[in-house]
Amino acid sequence: MCGVFGYIGEKNAVDVCLSGLEQLEYRGYDSTGIAGVHQGTISFCKKAGKLSELKKVIQMQPLSLAIAHTRWATHGKVSDQNAHPQFDEKGSVALIHNGIIENYNVLKEELRTQGVRFASETDSEVIAQLIAKYYQGDFLEAFHKTLSRLKGIFALLAIHKNHPDEIVASALHCPLAIAINEQGTETILSSDPCTLIGDNYNVIFLQSGESAKIQKGKVSLYGKSLEQIDKKSTRIEGSSQKPSKGSFEHFMIKEIFEQPLTIQKASLNIEHRMAPTFELFRDASRVLFLGCGTSAHAGQIGTLFLEDFVGIPAISEIASEARYRVSLMEPTTLCIAMSQSGETADTLSALRAVQSHGCKTIAICNSLNSTLAREADTMIFLQAGPEISVCSTKAFTSQIATLALLGIRLGKERKTLSLKEEEQLLQALERIPSEVQCVLDQASWIEKMAQKYADFNNFFFMGRRYMFPTALESALKLKEISYVNANGYPAGELKHGPLALLDAQFPVIAFCANLATEEKIVSNLMEVKARGAPILAIAPHHLTSVKEIADDVIWVPDTLDPLAPFASTVVGQLFAYFFAKTRGCAIDQPRNLAKSVTVE
Ligand code: G6P
Repeated sequence: MCGVFGYIGEKNAVDVCLSGLEQLEYRGYDSTGIAGVHQGTISFCKKAGKLSELKKVIQMQPLSLAIAHTRWATHGKVSDQNAHPQFDEKGSVALIHNGIIENYNVLKEELRTQGVRFASETDSEVIAQLIAKYYQGDFLEAFHKTLSRLKGIFALLAIHKNHPDEIVASALHCPLAIAINEQGTETILSSDPCTLIGDNYNVIFLQSGESAKIQKGKVSLYGKSLEQIDKKSTRIEGSSQKPSKGSFEHFMIKEIFEQPLTIQKASLNIEHRMAPTFELFRDASRVLFLGCGTSAHAGQIGTLFLEDFVGIPAISEIASEARYRVSLMEPTTLCIAMSQSGETADTLSALRAVQSHGCKTIAICNSLNSTLAREADTMIFLQAGPEISVCSTKAFTSQIATLALLGIRLGKERKTLSLKEEEQLLQALERIPSEVQCVLDQASWIEKMAQKYADFNNFFFMGRRYMFPTALESALKLKEISYVNANGYPAGELKHGPLALLDAQFPVIAFCANLATEEKIVSNLMEVKARGAPILAIAPHHLTSVKEIADDVIWVPDTLDPLAPFASTVVGQLFAYFFAKTRGCAIDQPRNLAKSVTVE
């Protein structure tokens, strides 16, 4: 699971590749590497660790063609040897790979019995070795023969020392875009068109099973049966600048502070942007939300909106589990796939599974050109701007703003919301950006709280109704970037087991901003207090009684229950950020994780 990038053109390909890798690091940062052909040999540099490590050691001569890779380790530990590019034993072929080769063991054994020696623990190395084995002067032919042996998923780029002017490429269930600038002087291959900067580009997205040979100013495309094909290109404007932290120390805190604006942007022109989805709701007997991580939590809040505002039965399922729940996939089940990146492999697989059962699908996504956006029947674009920090923040609040508006609009159409209820909700929603700003204004108080609790290693986050997914999301933020044990729990469930864990070393963070369950959460707080666990409450202003029970309180503005997740989540985000900062953790790129997980 990784990012692949390639360049042929007039600039120094090494520099362009380094810049491309910067944009792709969200797909993994265990190691990076670059290779090109120079005077009949493969020239390369690869290094374990983040891109900054490669930059320290790289000394490659300028090239007009190169391929580059950023890795999230699946097969084989994080090491220089396992970094890509991978090579055949003679160093004739350099290959980079995003995905997993499921039959690599069989292929490796076969090659070993023929005397081939392997240098890495990766599944990818077998591809380079196979290409070399099949090579008899025609690089593309050897590449095609190799493709026919592979099982799994991949986006591949390869070069050969005898073919200094070409890159061969193929994709199977992994994204791969081929972009040619308007003048036809540069060709970029990339896992994500977000790497396109400056120019306007004509972009071809390889479909599963397709392959390509790229030479300067020329792209030859091949279909599943290796027949030559033509494909329509999509015009994409390269972004005018690379994402920057501005005056902030980390992308995460910058993105947290963008939320008053991004929440507003999520509702801009929303009626028009949602319109294609209304038709799909008409025939839906129930709604199935799919997603992973933060996006799954947004889906959980979405189920509450649809049930409360529209009365449609809705469930949310973790994407990697959903595909096994075939009984949910009746053709009248409408599936809403939530994803910031639109490239999460688990979500894409679940989407394809529900589609194969005849279900209609909506993507709610922050990337217009993503695989999810292309494969779903329709999509609602979050327009939150690039989210760089691995820990998702602004995408979540944009997702729930979009879902709230969708729920309110459907509730209006079906008359399940009265005019008064609809107005109250819309007015309350309009106030959300300023309420989030109120939370941001308390950042220094939240930082103090995070510092106070920073020595603890175990936490429960609890809440009821709308505060339950909020608790789950806040616990995820803490564990992702601080490496402490943080579990979200429905507050009523604590007494059925988890309470046994509580003592003075096990704080509980209680999300109290759900009016309808207020008395019950107060009782739950008393139960926790009786066991001597420290309590940090996140409570709405009116709930003054919490002051007497909790050790500490962070206050949030009063609002309607369905909209309470906004301000409370932002408290959770800030708490996690300052907690991780106090403990000196790598905030934007936490260990072992990647922003977009492109393997199942
Ligand atoms: C990864 C990230 C999470 C994210 C999840 C889903 O695991 O580390 O922060 O929530 O993927 O990503 P998506 O792009 O599908 O929302």
